[in-house]
Amino acid sequence: MTESSRALILERFGSLPRLVERPVPPRAPGETLVRVHAAQIGHLDLNIVDGRFGILPSLPFVPGTNSCGTVVASDVHPVGSLVRVNGAGLGLRRDGGWAEHAVVPDKAAFPTPPGTDPALACSFFSPAGTAWAAVHDVATIGAGERVLVTGAAGAVGSMAVQLAVRAGAEVIGVVGRPAKLEHVPAGAKAILAADLSAEALGGPVDALIDTVGGSVLAAALGLVRSRGRAALIGYSAGREFTVDLADFLLADVALLPVNLMARGRGLAEVGERLLAEIASGDLTLNIERYGLDRLEQAVERLRGGAAIGKVALTLD
Ligand SMILES: NC(=O)c1ccc[n+]([C@@H]2O[C@H](COP(=O)([O-])OP(=O)(O)OC[C@H]3O[C@@H](n4cnc5c(N)ncnc54)[C@H](OP(=O)(O)O)[C@@H]3O)[C@@H](O)[C@H]2O)c1
Repeated sequence: MTESSRALILERFGSLPRLVERPVPPRAPGETLVRVHAAQIGHLDLNIVDGRFGILPSLPFVPGTNSCGTVVASDVHPVGSLVRVNGAGLGLRRDGGWAEHAVVPDKAAFPTPPGTDPALACSFFSPAGTAWAAVHDVATIGAGERVLVTGAAGAVGSMAVQLAVRAGAEVIGVVGRPAKLEHVPAGAKAILAADLSAEALGGPVDALIDTVGGSVLAAALGLVRSRGRAALIGYSAGREFTVDLADFLLADVALLPVNLMARGRGLAEVGERLLAEIASGDLTLNIERYGLDRLEQAVERLRGGAAIGKVALTLD
């Protein structure tokens, strides 16, 4: 009898994938069959589901750019070993990990220490790698600097706060809603976006790490000192903002993009270290977990900005 397996299948961009039973997908040479334990629901996944990304799959399609599971069959990876799965167009050009079984190119499966929480394994790299790149490579935060982080209770923002505090900076974490103030990591001053002003900050900051975009970026940019840096990571609050070029030149603040896709390879080693630190509790990353049948609630939390940290599907 053919073993059946549950999967979330997207049939139309702009709708949510439907939970279906299907046969376990067949594996070809060069591919690994993985029993997925957890899969990330990220903003990128939602942009793809919405049909609002530069690269889109043909439908029907299983989303899920990042997942983690146990190898069931492979010519390369030991059967029974834990692997993180991402890259090679997974969840983008070919079926991804929002399914109990995923067939992935061998090169898209990465050995993961046994016993690692699968939800953490598939969720940590985007926030940790991006925050690391923003703090150390792009904004180059130094000891004693004053740093403003927006979306400071979010996945990337909370990680950026922790890494900037660790770098010896004085960190102010901005959140959009009062319920999130308590989720800004320890070591930073927490402030509401509505209360943001040069006065409330006690003067301009040396650097901004913005994970929110839109009008929040426009407001926060004005709080960075002349010759300071602003690292832009995300645009949940809006893909656009207007700049008065005369004011921009006068302000003399470097607005710098952070692009994890372009930098990911170079961060592989740092990523392993950060995973170990999160797993041991030295760094904190909150993860909200939802079963396959609760996709709608999970997406609503993430889309609405209510989620605290990462959001993951659990498939066991
Ligand atoms: N550049 C890159 O390479 C890269 C890599 C990873 C992630 N990203 C992007 O970075 C951003 C943050 O990622 P994340 O994983 O930290 O996300 P997250 O955990 O959902 O945090 C995003 C924060 O944005 C704030 N926000 C403000 N307005 C919002 C709105 N209308 N809808 C949703 N959130 C809103 C929310 O905080 P408040 O409620 O406190 O305002 C939320 O906590 C996303 O846009 C993501 O796509 C970019």
